[in-house]
Amino acid sequence: MQLNIEQLRNETPGTQSVIHFNNAGCSLPTKETIDVITEYLQIEAVIGGYELKEKYQSILDQFYKEAAQLINASEEEIALTANASDSFNKAIYAIPFQEGDIVLASEVEYGNSYLNFLKLKEEKGIEIQIIPSDEHGNVLLGKLEAMISPQVKLIAITHIPTNSGLITDAESIGAIAKKHNILYILDACQSVGHIPVDVEKIQCDFLTATSRKYLRGPRGLGFLYVKKEVLKKLKPMSLDMVTAHWENADSYQLDLNIKMFEQWEKPYALVLGFSKAIAYLNQLGIENTWKRIQELSSYLRDNLKKIEGVTVRDIGTNQCGIVTFNIGDIPPEDVVKALLQNKINTSVSARFSTVLDMDKRGLSAVNRASLQYYNTKEEIDVFVEFIKIAATQIPEYQ
Ligand SMILES: Cc1ncc(COP(=O)(O)O)c(C=O)c1O
Repeated sequence: MQLNIEQLRNETPGTQSVIHFNNAGCSLPTKETIDVITEYLQIEAVIGGYELKEKYQSILDQFYKEAAQLINASEEEIALTANASDSFNKAIYAIPFQEGDIVLASEVEYGNSYLNFLKLKEEKGIEIQIIPSDEHGNVLLGKLEAMISPQVKLIAITHIPTNSGLITDAESIGAIAKKHNILYILDACQSVGHIPVDVEKIQCDFLTATSRKYLRGPRGLGFLYVKKEVLKKLKPMSLDMVTAHWENADSYQLDLNIKMFEQWEKPYALVLGFSKAIAYLNQLGIENTWKRIQELSSYLRDNLKKIEGVTVRDIGTNQCGIVTFNIGDIPPEDVVKALLQNKINTSVSARFSTVLDMDKRGLSAVNRASLQYYNTKEEIDVFVEFIKIAATQIPEYQ
């Protein structure tokens, strides 16, 4: 299906006022998404929060159907969470780690993931081992397989990192995890809604996603996928009255289903918005939106590479809509500020988010322009012209 970009932009009010290249930070929502949220809040205010939720239950439950459809899972495998980090933490703290267990992690792990592995190291005595990657940033599959031992309890992979265009070959890693019967968690925070993600093909046991980025949902929500067969091996890090039943002064019962990762209290207006945003994408078709993002990001990378003084920083042989670069020694924050004054939204990806990869490449921060399917070549042309002008100022920064 050919996307009607003009129509999609008309359905997204923000595209009329800014050039939004910060989609890996937070994408612009559609008017439809904003409307369902505000309408729900308006009705809630006049008829009562609990009362409205009862009425809307079946509509709210659509969220699970839409999320499951997008990643080829079942509704009983999706938990609504606060964000991707919340999903990740809920998953890893539910794994019954023991002293000496090994976690194999990729070089591009996100700060939250790695910090919590360090905490598990400190508290439970697990060991973290980093899977090496080749000169392009691709995980070395042979090396990964050679690292597998009976102590390896978990393989943790970031599908698309926050600081580069890399797409990790999650499927090949999944085949190895499956072959050796090792738990596999995929941080798909930047990939769900951005590229096609199919949990059956990837064979992951856990997958984490967030609402506000490529899914174009509201801030403050995310989801966690857990494969049904894995649930019985887990113990949630904390209990909530959704699945834990208080029996008496000394005991409780726990239902081992996906709801054990949820909280009873939820921001229902936002859940509706999140559901609407995923439904919108399911209708457009992720294959179509991904094709458009690929075209736009190749165009941007090719144009940036032509500018003297600009270094494109993306690793990976298979690349996505996140485009990273530096302009000589100009501090990336200065570039973002100057772009913002011209109504162009971009961001900085700093060392602290991906310490291992940034240190390996000797980088302290990069500029990040992350494209969504609603962006246009005309917007890229404006952006590139601006970067050309910025590049003329490199000598002043030396
Ligand atoms: C690769 C990656 N993983 C995880 C996260 C954390 O997502 P959230 O802020 O929704 O917890 C981010 C956020 O930028 C990310 O880029």
